[in-house]
Amino acid sequence: MRTQVGIVGAGPAGLLLSHMLARRGVDSVVVEARSRSHVEQRVRAGVLEHPTVELLRAEEVGDRMDAQGMPHDGISLLFDDALHHIDFADLVGRGIVVYGQQEVVKDLIAARLRDGGTVEFEAADVALHGLTTDRPSITFTDTAGIVREIECDVVAGCDGFHGVSRRAFAPTVVERTYPFGWLGILAKAAPTRDELVYANSDRGFALYSMRSPEITRLYLQVPADEDAARWSDARIWDELGARLAGIPVNEGPLLERPSVTGMRSMVAEPMRHGRLFLAGDAAHIVPPTGAKGMNLAIADVAVLADALEDLLRRGSSRGVDAYSATCLRRVWRAEQFSSFMTSMLHRYGPDSEHGDAFGRALQLSQLRYTASSRAAATSLAENYTGLPHGGPA
Ligand code: FAD
Ligand code: DHB
Repeated sequence: MRTQVGIVGAGPAGLLLSHMLARRGVDSVVVEARSRSHVEQRVRAGVLEHPTVELLRAEEVGDRMDAQGMPHDGISLLFDDALHHIDFADLVGRGIVVYGQQEVVKDLIAARLRDGGTVEFEAADVALHGLTTDRPSITFTDTAGIVREIECDVVAGCDGFHGVSRRAFAPTVVERTYPFGWLGILAKAAPTRDELVYANSDRGFALYSMRSPEITRLYLQVPADEDAARWSDARIWDELGARLAGIPVNEGPLLERPSVTGMRSMVAEPMRHGRLFLAGDAAHIVPPTGAKGMNLAIADVAVLADALEDLLRRGSSRGVDAYSATCLRRVWRAEQFSSFMTSMLHRYGPDSEHGDAFGRALQLSQLRYTASSRAAATSLAENYTGLPHGGPA
């Protein structure tokens, strides 16, 4: 099989890239390790920042998001036993939309299949070849057990943190891990609030979020190596009640077994090796506290689609040559913001710089400043709602 861009991974990055390239007259094939139903059911991120919302609309994959997504004009911080509202609309004139990542994935798969695109699901043994030649290729074993080869001009590595693309060369990797993770639950219970609540409590961080008028999404800080099986439904609701004290929480049946997500910061530089371009979690990971993971993946793709159009339709390598440096500016802004939100909101151990008496007092001072100073709140709002694509970072 021959195509212009071979894309590894059908997450938000790989699917949006394939869609945007098609709209720019560039052919691609997506190769995905998991099944279609698996990627469409996988519950992950839920916050779309403003530039993501605008891009999905501009690329004509925003109709269901506009119909079913939940626009929010702010968030609240819960600390010192009180709720503190951060009014994004007032501070920066834009907001966010709460719309599940798997809904974005469903919309993109539907658009690709409607437009005659190819997504090879359940591809095993995916391997990349000839990345520093002008004829790279991808091999994989299909569901019939047949080894197939995709010859292309360019490979896009959109295969997430555990994929093969980043390991196909030797980028410089800088990373940090955190001594905690998030236990996430999805419950059939009507949200009691219109906006998200990020809670810094003595018992640890908790996040109140939602997916629809019938479904609540909640997270609890737990130790990094926590076994989710230790958390009965009753224990989860009790702990949420304690950490979200003062906020009524409707309980309801859990829609899937809770799982624990580890927290890490990671950046691989450069995001390019010859004819291989990394995008999304394949190149960088943020802790989820700033709600930036999926948004960064989409921001990379916005840059890559135009750069590949220039390369493959006009023969100009300016965009691809600037790709890595352009993306990394935004990546590092999101890394700083996500790390800042994480250290401000979580409970750290007494031996940590954020958990000893001094660090705890700094956390509370930062929270109080953010809640009371328009300058500090504006900075949070600007980062949370997303700096413009191509804008300052
Ligand atoms: P992915 O969505 O990971 O997509 C990569 C795709 O590549 C996957 O479909 C995978 O199956 C496929 N793949 C992997 N290896 C191969 C291979 N060898 N060959 C072919 N295909 C392959 N962010 C938030 O902001 N908030 C959250 O609450 C949140 N929760 C998360 C929970 C989990 C468990 C994880 C892993 C991430 C979470 N994130 C969250 C981060 C956010 O979901 C990611 O940043 C986002 O998915 C990045 O999109 P992507 O397309 O780059 O990668
Ligand atoms: C959600 C996830 C996040 O990481 C976040 O910061 C806010 C909301 C969510 O899944 O709803």
